[in-house]
Amino acid sequence: MLLLNIPFRIKNVEVKNRLLRSATLESKADIEGFVTDDLLELYYHLARGGAGFLVTGAAAVEQGGKCFGQQLCVYDDKYLPGLKKLADVVHRYGNGCKCAVQIFHQGMAGYFFSGNTAGKIFSLKDIKQEEITVTIKSFGLAARRVKEAGFDAVAVHGAHGYLLNQFLCPTTNNRTDKWGGSLENRMRFTQEVYSAMREQVGEDFPILWKINTSDYIEGGNGIEQYARVVRTLAQMGVNLVELTGGMERQTRLRARLGREAGEHEAYFYWAIDSMKEAVAGTETALAITGGIRSLKAMENLLKSGIDLIGICRPLICEPDLPSRLLHSPDKRRSKCTSCNKCYFHIARQALKCVQFDSFRSVLNNVSE
Ligand SMILES: Cc1cc2nc3c(=O)[nH]c(=O)nc-3n(C[C@H](O)[C@H](O)[C@H](O)COP(=O)(O)O)c2cc1C
Repeated sequence: MLLLNIPFRIKNVEVKNRLLRSATLESKADIEGFVTDDLLELYYHLARGGAGFLVTGAAAVEQGGKCFGQQLCVYDDKYLPGLKKLADVVHRYGNGCKCAVQIFHQGMAGYFFSGNTAGKIFSLKDIKQEEITVTIKSFGLAARRVKEAGFDAVAVHGAHGYLLNQFLCPTTNNRTDKWGGSLENRMRFTQEVYSAMREQVGEDFPILWKINTSDYIEGGNGIEQYARVVRTLAQMGVNLVELTGGMERQTRLRARLGREAGEHEAYFYWAIDSMKEAVAGTETALAITGGIRSLKAMENLLKSGIDLIGICRPLICEPDLPSRLLHSPDKRRSKCTSCNKCYFHIARQALKCVQFDSFRSVLNNVSE
């Protein structure tokens, strides 16, 4: 039996297999951030596609935290009816598939949203203490909405150079108060966000955290610092940590890391031992995402002690890849070539695989 097919528990949530759809911004909400039919259709296909766990694209916890026009939002109760529909589609059609909403704040630029800010260069230091307090609360309230909408967990985007990462990283965190300076201080925002969320969702609702293994920038955090952050989060009670990396120029970085990883495929496989040590003795599970394309690499990662395998781009071109790999004789690797055209596409248009255009072929199959 494939290790990938062995169910897994995150708290009280039974995950039917080890494939996690890593958060993927869909650009399919409407301009105000509400769930649309287009978004529901995507989750219908993903839920039926066989992954054990889906994480939605980043959803903004504040209006200023949004960085893409058609990004999902969770900063107000008015989003609840749409979010409920989204959770329902996954549960109704997913044959046990579970789903979390990833909550997110874009970072420093989001605080200078109104007013005349043309040409201004923002830094973390410009964010007022009151604004920090409000944002921490916003993460908590967003988590409460995710739970209320009927999702199985809430996920946090703590990586890739967005707000939580900006606080953690010494090159972006230029504060000199209790939020900046030492790693203890830079971690404070992450810890307070976690505590605010936990307070809102209670002990039994899983909280997932996506975090870097390295910032891959000069003067940024490396594995030593991130292992300490992960240890702290694990001791506080985060239920799953998803390993990723990088703060900027993601596409170039991923291309380089892909070459370096070679047959391991997983860009961040080198960080597994340190992160296993970081969560040792706690109940925190580990997922890893980035560059994973073949069944062989997935099985090897599970053998090395990873609990869930995260995939993003492969599910854009083949939403039913999990079913194919797990339950059909066709075990060929994902057809995704990591061309990254999808990544550039979402800045202006709805998510799709630009190379293979699977959604168009789905539409073509609908009878008149
Ligand atoms: C189109 C696109 C949208 C993405 N949106 C998000 C997002 O909303 N949140 C997030 O944490 N990562 C996001 N990512 C990063 C992926 O989750 C993942 O970490 C990265 O693509 C590497 O995994 P892969 O090789 O399986 O694609 C996105 C990536 C792509 C290509």
